[in-house]
Amino acid sequence: MDGLFITLEGGEGSGKTTVAKYLVERLTKEGYDVLLTREPGGVKIAEQIRAVILDTNNTDMDPRTEAILYAASRRQHLVEKVIPALKEGKIVICDRYIDSSFAYQGFARGIGMSAIKDLNNFAITDGGKIYYPDLSLYFDVDPEIGLQRVSQRGDELTRLDKEKLEFHDKVRKGYLTVYSLNEYMKMIDASKSLEEVEQEAYDRVRAAINKREELLSYDKN
Ligand code: TYD
Repeated sequence: MDGLFITLEGGEGSGKTTVAKYLVERLTKEGYDVLLTREPGGVKIAEQIRAVILDTNNTDMDPRTEAILYAASRRQHLVEKVIPALKEGKIVICDRYIDSSFAYQGFARGIGMSAIKDLNNFAITDGGKIYYPDLSLYFDVDPEIGLQRVSQRGDELTRLDKEKLEFHDKVRKGYLTVYSLNEYMKMIDASKSLEEVEQEAYDRVRAAINKREELLSYDKN
């Protein structure tokens, strides 16, 4: 039976990357075999695609080109790294996955959720299976707080920051839309203290592991 596929989602400064490390440490101590990885990137070809997407000189990139590149990077990373680990029964924790594309490309860039779904279903299908996450943890925080955390300063936002803010407000709305549509997504209030956020994330993961282990025990009977 496959392992467990967990993805972490959220806007900038939501703390998901810090929580990812916490989860890996705690689960590893408990004896689980955990793989921590991230998107976009994680393997050589996907890292090369990431470099094209995130190159600040590429200001003229068309939104659909961007969406296709994210999907291409996703597929390469999935088949090369995620699927083999799942087949070995590992818990895979991936920092960003398909829900990032729904929120950023589908909603914030205005491509539309169904176009992103079609494109990504093509990218994440392998051996007749569509690789949606078993659990997607969405770390929800007001972008103003998130961006302030990123810049590590409490002063007022500049004009440029404000433009950013508008975009990130859209990203948040996108995530909330995906959340309302998908059972596999669970929301965590990331405005709370880091300790609380880490504990809540752990509890969600623990519940998913328990459910999986219960299923496995039926298989043995
Ligand atoms: P990264 O530096 O990894 O940021 P973070 O620490 O916030 O994850 O950059 C990833 C950027 O790519 C981030 O701004 C979100 C964006 N992104 C998309 O727009 N669509 C996607 O499908 C993915 C995976 C990421």
